[in-house]
Amino acid sequence: MIDRNDELKELAIKEINEHRNTVEKDHFRSVFHLMPPVGLLNDPNGFIHWKGVYHVFFQWMPFKTDHGAKFWGHYTSTDLVNWELQPIALAPGDWYDKNGCYSGSAVVYEDKMYLFYTGNVKDEEGNRETYQCVAVSEDGIHFEKKGVVLHLPEGYTPHFRDPKVWQHLGKWYMVIGTQNLNEEGRVVLFESANLMDWTFKGDVTASGEEAIGDLGFMWECPDLFELDGKDILLFSPQGIEPEGYLYQNIYQTGYVSGELDYVSGKMSHGGFTELDRGFEFYAPQTTLDENGRRLVIGWMGVPEQAEGHHPTIAHKWIHILTVPRELHYEDERLIQRPAVELEAMRHTEMTKEANLSNELKQWSELNGTVYELLVQLEEIKGTFSVNLRNNASLTYDSTKALLTFKRKSFVDGREETRSCLINSVKELRFYVDSSSVEVFVNGGEEVFTSRFFPEESNESLVFEAVGDSKFQVTRWLLN
Ligand code: FRU
Repeated sequence: MIDRNDELKELAIKEINEHRNTVEKDHFRSVFHLMPPVGLLNDPNGFIHWKGVYHVFFQWMPFKTDHGAKFWGHYTSTDLVNWELQPIALAPGDWYDKNGCYSGSAVVYEDKMYLFYTGNVKDEEGNRETYQCVAVSEDGIHFEKKGVVLHLPEGYTPHFRDPKVWQHLGKWYMVIGTQNLNEEGRVVLFESANLMDWTFKGDVTASGEEAIGDLGFMWECPDLFELDGKDILLFSPQGIEPEGYLYQNIYQTGYVSGELDYVSGKMSHGGFTELDRGFEFYAPQTTLDENGRRLVIGWMGVPEQAEGHHPTIAHKWIHILTVPRELHYEDERLIQRPAVELEAMRHTEMTKEANLSNELKQWSELNGTVYELLVQLEEIKGTFSVNLRNNASLTYDSTKALLTFKRKSFVDGREETRSCLINSVKELRFYVDSSSVEVFVNGGEEVFTSRFFPEESNESLVFEAVGDSKFQVTRWLLN
């Protein structure tokens, strides 16, 4: 009898082959970001560095550009720049994952790689069931499913998913994102000695006086890790209302920092801070690499946020991942910097300087669609803007201490904005890749991550000062 998993994998490969040319012809496809070979990509999963190889798995729907019964696709790299698509790691072919091998993580134990993921199941009436499952590999490429290791505990709805596993002082820990019976988002902690038998420890975040407040009805994709002497709980809550410049996307991603008491399983922590200021950033996952760095990679998309309007759908694919970034905790906040390896993509460096007074400046030799742009600002009096391809722009208004990213909506062409307050802007580092832009502000103090879909023929790059701005730009082409 043919195994259902193998059957599904074959169908997915057929889909890749059938639509390869359609995907490749899209001028919006990424050059240096991970994207699906066909279909829909969402969360990064199983991010790990093992025997010198980085593994990034991803939520993948090969058969359409919409969500559904997810597979785990798989990319590997030795340098975080050149990625190779590997055989499909997981297909939703078993009773416990038949409606999707949902998000999860990877660890290495006794020289084997273990993938922990959520088996998503819908019964005949459409009711959700959830199972936390394991698959094991000796080579990091071929995975054998071992089935269910953890069932839904009492007190939570079946919105219970996305296991992130790590080791601490010889024991294993797992956080899971969930919703309690009052329909409030929560993260729960489990403990294990052997990765197979798990003990429930309870809600991680504080309750009572230290309560985190109302942070929506469901928390997805939790990650808990130690960084620069702090414990950080990163997660993606759903259902927070917009508040001033905050929480503008339909769903958010952010963190609390403090200290996890591994005995009680409770974390003492401060308030919630959003991790990114742009339009598309969700479900990031971190790993501690073999060089001791805490790296993070995110999904450059947000569930249910105008997904059906992405123009790449016409070319049979949708969504990309962010570039890998290095995380630090400095001055009570998370700092994100592009992984230093990305510098290896640079070529054709060009530098310009300007002192602008109420004027626009364009050096046509800097025009392009795929590049890294470093803008070092000596002075901004009034507003300073960088405009990309007449479709997206970043503006700092020094009179309001307000930094704003604008783009033409890909839904209706109207201008839409995301902003944050920041006392001064000294440095802006843009990674531009066909239809995406990531801007690292002042060495990663703030980051704006967004897709944008400009006219193919427009490659302009325009600087503008209202008032006076003095700056230097360095541009590298990337490949
Ligand atoms: C987050 C998420 C996860 C889930 C996965 C399914 O984007 O909803 O909670 O495991 O996507 O693809």
